[in-house]
Amino acid sequence: MRTLREISVLRDTLGECRRRGRRIGLVPTMGNLHEGHLSLVEAARRHADVVVATVFVNPLQFGAGEDLDAYPRTLAEDQAKLEAAGCDLLFAPATRELYPRGLEQQTRVCVPEVSEGLCGGSRPGHFDGVSTVVSILFHLVQPDVACFGEKDYQQLAVIRKLVADLHFPIEIVGVPIVRAADGLALSSRNGYLDDNERATAPELQRTLAALREALQAGEPVEATLDAGLARLRQAGFVPDYLELRAADLGPVTASTREAVLLTAARLGTTRLIDNLTLTLPR
Ligand code: PAF
Repeated sequence: MRTLREISVLRDTLGECRRRGRRIGLVPTMGNLHEGHLSLVEAARRHADVVVATVFVNPLQFGAGEDLDAYPRTLAEDQAKLEAAGCDLLFAPATRELYPRGLEQQTRVCVPEVSEGLCGGSRPGHFDGVSTVVSILFHLVQPDVACFGEKDYQQLAVIRKLVADLHFPIEIVGVPIVRAADGLALSSRNGYLDDNERATAPELQRTLAALREALQAGEPVEATLDAGLARLRQAGFVPDYLELRAADLGPVTASTREAVLLTAARLGTTRLIDNLTLTLPR
């Protein structure tokens, strides 16, 4: 696996792959890779001949007071994991390579509606930062297919709309959440948890599972979500939100069947997110 730092080298290398008729798969990441990321690489391998991963901690998607500086940067370990997973190319640019005019001057991409509320409500500007960097990576790599994790449910919806609205000829593949044995969704931010918090963290997923059962049994939505919030607070979480949405993230109506429970909650200083899809009863 080659690691490339410069856009010009990336373009030359991928131009050659494209001329040889190879199908290109992209896995964008911010590094500090775990099994969840490696499942994206596996998915990309199933859909493409050449797998390109990117490692870039994107400053545009972090708000003031968020963990940009603390975000774990583990490039040597990431390179070894990607190589073992069968990745062909790693693009790991410096910030000035992607944003040479600086962050203030950077042209930004905004995907309306789907970027609002949920994580977009508690992290203003976050999805504009994601949409901007993903658009840049799509332009640079020109993949046939790109893989994103379903743990970031709203992010996946934003990217699907971005691809549709900007007419990127790219197939977007959503890859199921990878969980630890106790149910906690894998996340680079789990590394911030101390031992007590790590023991509490799976309660997030257990709460969603209990709510799903209640909703599928026909319990009223508002009371069920209130009980879920109380359960999370009781366990020591400070919830940002706990919502039931239609699977496309629109509001739940009487005719909604495919739906999703989504939550973000803080445990100490760590913000965790999770979601669970469900079919509502008639
Ligand atoms: O999901 C992530 O790790 C990031 O939001 C992404 C898609 C790599 C953009 O920086």
